Amino acid sequence: MNDKLFDAYPLFHITGRPGWINDPNGLVYFRGQYHVFYQYYPAATHWGPMHWGHVVSDDLKQWEQMPIALAPGGKGDRDGCFSGSAIVWQDRIWLLYTGFTENGGGDAIRQVQCLASSADGVRFEKHGVVIDENDLPADYSPSDFRDPKVWRSGDSFFCVVAARRVGGRGRVLLYRSEDLRTWHFVGDLFGVDSRGSMIECPDYRSDLGLLMLCEQFQPQEGHTHLNIHTNRYYLGILDETSGSFRPTSEGICDYGFDFYAPQTFADTPVMIGWMNMWDRNVPSADYGFAGMLTLPRRLEVRDGRLRQTPCLPETRIVRTENGMGTLTDCAVTGVIEVRARDLRHLTLRLRVKGEQSTILSYRAGEWVFDRSHAGVAITGVEQDADSRAGIRRMPGEGDYVSLTVVMDRYSVEVFANGRALTSTVYPDADADGIVFEADAAECTYTRAELV
Ligand code: FRU
Repeated sequence: MNDKLFDAYPLFHITGRPGWINDPNGLVYFRGQYHVFYQYYPAATHWGPMHWGHVVSDDLKQWEQMPIALAPGGKGDRDGCFSGSAIVWQDRIWLLYTGFTENGGGDAIRQVQCLASSADGVRFEKHGVVIDENDLPADYSPSDFRDPKVWRSGDSFFCVVAARRVGGRGRVLLYRSEDLRTWHFVGDLFGVDSRGSMIECPDYRSDLGLLMLCEQFQPQEGHTHLNIHTNRYYLGILDETSGSFRPTSEGICDYGFDFYAPQTFADTPVMIGWMNMWDRNVPSADYGFAGMLTLPRRLEVRDGRLRQTPCLPETRIVRTENGMGTLTDCAVTGVIEVRARDLRHLTLRLRVKGEQSTILSYRAGEWVFDRSHAGVAITGVEQDADSRAGIRRMPGEGDYVSLTVVMDRYSVEVFANGRALTSTVYPDADADGIVFEADAAECTYTRAELV
């Protein structure tokens, strides 16, 4: 690999190295290591025949690149190994993923669920198709049937799979199995069409009573769900006998421009998402790679709301300031923490150089993120004025603010009182100015560098 290319990669976010990546897949802990797979097309910086790329980590901080785990070409997955999940059973990693065959496109497309496994966590053996159109209830489309998420409950395995009724919109189906090879349809979680035209990448975990899913072509709801491909979570109870899901509340997983297809680890409530978005340009394609994954985020549910805490890379604090007013600083990457009481106003300008800057501000119960002057423009299919202006908004509480901002070369992840707002930015490599201003009863600014 040439040094110039290596130098252009994000410092601590997972990427596929040369090529294109999208969804995180198969998040699982096996023999002392965290395994993360991802949708990968190694041959170009655009989406293509999907492979599963693979990285491992001891600590969720440093990732080691592994050989490609799955490549298209087998029975049921001739044209792509689409998204899926993993589980450890009988001392092996089992991957349940969607096999894709194009067959000329349209209604002839087939999406089936396939099984693969590995004894050493490195080399994977395919076991073929385990759920296909014969396992779909009548009137569901075999062309839109994908992204199984598997878990174990008692002596059974369950999986949720995204689906669509013919002529209708997105659905989520529940299946049950005793051996991962033979699956039985249990039920349709909501029993009604979703708001999006198709659901993708459902993820369910019973320990939190949390169902996350993505919806394509989802109409905006106020200042949320502005991305035309959005993410939503429901809290509630999934009845594994009937397959019905009763939501008690719902929300958006991440308020930013670049967050999709989140998945949690099989045994651990830690989530990773794809830190890009469909239907927009990806400026890093100029450096030979496109697509990154978010930092892992620990999830909890408190007061009826999903809260996220980032698993930070190794850092050391280099600056702490108490007080308000204006402060200047400089860094391209690292972590900024702000703790404030009775916050009236805050502005944090990052990656400042001349006219370039990425701005996060807080006023009157709302965070506003502005990447309109952040560097190389990111444009695409948008449905609203905020998106065209490079703006994202997130609710906040000023009485006590716990803010963590994580900067890598091409991303800013904002965590404020458990809510998250994630976006990519492509400023000049030397755009390193920071300007911080706050008006609050008490306020502390801390910056940490990567070690
Ligand atoms: C979501 C998605 C999945 C599919 C995969 C294909 O981003 O469209 O539904 O399995 O990407 O790469």
